[in-house]
Formats: sequence, structure tokens, C-alpha cells
Amino acid sequence: MLSFRRALVAAAFFISVLFFATRSTSGAVSSLAVQPPKAQSDSDSKQGSVTTGASNNAVHAGGHRNWPSPQGQQTMQDPSKMTLYDRLAYQFPYDVETKFPAYIWQTWRWTPAHAEFQFREQEATWTEQHPGFIHEVITDQVAVHLIRLLYASVPEVIEAYAALPLAVLKADFFRYLILLARGGIYSDIDTYAIRSALDWIPEVVPRNTVGLVIGIEADPDRPDWKDWYSRRVQFCQWTIQAKPGHPVLREVVTRITEETLRRKKAGSLKNIIDKNVIEFTGPALWTDVIFEYFNDPRYFDMSQSAGPIDWRNFTGMENRRRIGDVIVLPITSFSPGVQQMGAKDTDDPMAFVKHDFEGTWKPESERHIGE
Ligand SMILES: *[C@@H]1O[C@H](CO)[C@@H](O)[C@H](O)[C@H]1NC(C)=O
Repeated sequence: MLSFRRALVAAAFFISVLFFATRSTSGAVSSLAVQPPKAQSDSDSKQGSVTTGASNNAVHAGGHRNWPSPQGQQTMQDPSKMTLYDRLAYQFPYDVETKFPAYIWQTWRWTPAHAEFQFREQEATWTEQHPGFIHEVITDQVAVHLIRLLYASVPEVIEAYAALPLAVLKADFFRYLILLARGGIYSDIDTYAIRSALDWIPEVVPRNTVGLVIGIEADPDRPDWKDWYSRRVQFCQWTIQAKPGHPVLREVVTRITEETLRRKKAGSLKNIIDKNVIEFTGPALWTDVIFEYFNDPRYFDMSQSAGPIDWRNFTGMENRRRIGDVIVLPITSFSPGVQQMGAKDTDDPMAFVKHDFEGTWKPESERHIGE
């Protein structure tokens, strides 16, 4: 008798377990549990307060913000109501803990196999310095297809890329798009790799705290700098290393897309002339977005920071500086041998990339005309 009663209790127990188990499963299915679109991993970059490492001159400015951890399940937002910025974050989440992808991206009219390809020497230095990396030289035709594939879920981006009226605009936009989606290194086709990207970040800085490496293009310490340059300190965009989804790239892509579609609607896209390029897609826009990022309370805890970050924090720099998850290299690193603005020669240990300004689509003089 006892064993029958036991069996009955066991059966009841088994049935109720089964009931609750199936119930909770179906519950999880009906409310799609996904992470909210705000890249939670942005918060994972554990940056300390402002410190200057004497050994490597790394600077953390303002700790990275700690987002509150998500409380249990979150229902998925209707993607059609999300902003472009949030959809890009959802599609290309940023995780500072991942490795820098071993890609080198370059673009030109022709592939290195083409008879008219004239940058064989420069292009080879990237392969030589980076064994094991995937090195792609992407032509305009291939770029169109790649953007369509990568951004299929963000059609405004594809529309904006197609609408840009000048090759130089598309070339600028492409570098941000490929790095946002895939990460790695972008470098203009007319650059020589002097040293491996593995040396760009100092040994003492953990790779899982850095998501973006940039260089300085111009630091004109002279009263008439405005006659020659658009910004007092200008970051270069001929060479960039990034992890996919970096918020700076997300913001740059959002701005270019929205501005392009606004101008398309207004019918003013065709009026863009070479000297507007620097502000629209070029280094002026790039520089502005980076400075805004350094001062963005969404990413940096400004209460720990000693005042705003601006050009003063980067002028005359001879060593790398680290601001949050960004490494800023001195002018010598990406502009060695220009014989001005404190840049040292190409044989300096901090000289990493040499840029020739031949395959940039824009002559040097036009690149540096202010607004
Ligand atoms: C940036 O420069 C300002 C002065 O212009 C200074 O007060 C501030 O501490 C600097 N911040 C960092 C992180 O170096």
C-alpha cells in the first residue's frame, strides 16, 4: 500500500514538474528575450579615473560609464521605431573585450592584379608587416556589393552610399562602414606600413581595454592656423584601427547617412565641391565626432574628468595618449617625415605609417582648406 501511495506522490510530482517546465519554456518563447539595443558591452570597458601612466603616457580621462545591468528579460523594441544610431548599435554591437580583427582593408580603382595598379610597393608593406592578416584591396564595384551585403538590414545606409556624388565621398564613407561592420585596419592605398600594427599599442596596455587607434594629421601651432587647417588639432582618417561596432564609427556613419539623405531630399547633393568634403565626410567631421565622444556622458563619467577634453590635450604630444578606450598616437606615428608640426622622421621608433597623398583622390592643398 505504502509503495502505491509513494508511486502516486511521485507521479503527481513528476506531472507538476513537467507542467512548470513546459510552461516556463513556452513563456520564454512568447516574449522574445533579447538584449536592449544600447550596447551593454560599452559599459564593460573598465576604465579607471584620470591617471597618467609615466611608463607609456597613457591617459584615462573620465571612467567609462557603468550602465545599470539589465533587470531580467527585456522585450525587444520595435526596430522600425529605433533611431538609426540604435539600429546600428543593435546590428553591430561593440565589445571592447574582443580582439582586434586581423583584417587590413584598402580601396582603389583596381586590384593589385590589374596592370594599372601603381601602389604595389606600398601595398606589399602591409602584407609583409602583417603575416596572418587578411588583406583586401577592394574596388569600387566590389565595395557596392559589400555594403549592400553588410548593411542589408539598414537600408538608409545603402541608399546614402549610392547617393554620394563624388568618389572621394564614397571612399571616405566606405572606411567607416567597413570598420563599423567588420573592424580591423583601414589604410589608404598610398600608405607604407613601417611597423606592424601589433606595435601601435604599447605592451603595457591590455588589448581588451582599447577599441580604437587613431593618429594626428595636423597640429599647427601658429596664429594663422585657420588659413591652412580646418581644426586646431586634426585627427587623420587615412589610417584607422578599430574593433567592430565602435561608438565613434557608429556616430560617424549615422551623421553621414542622415546628412546625405537630407541633402538628397533637398536636391543639394550635387552642389558638393571638393573643399566641402573635409567637413562632410573627411577629417573635420572625423575629428569633431572623436572630440564629442571624449566628452560624451553616455560613454565617459565626466564627474571623474578634470574638465573637457579638447585640442589642448593633444597638442605637442610626443607619446601615445589613452582616453578611455581610444589610443591617440602622436603626429610622428602616421605622419612621419612631413618636417613640420613636430613630426619626427620615418626612422623614429614611433613612426608607424607613411602616407604619400597620391591615392587619396584629393590633392593635399584641397584637403587642408578650411570651411
Ligand atoms: C585636458 O586639458 C585640460 C587643460 O586644457 C586639463 O585641465 C585636463 O586635465 C586635461 N585632461 C586630461 C585627461 O589630460
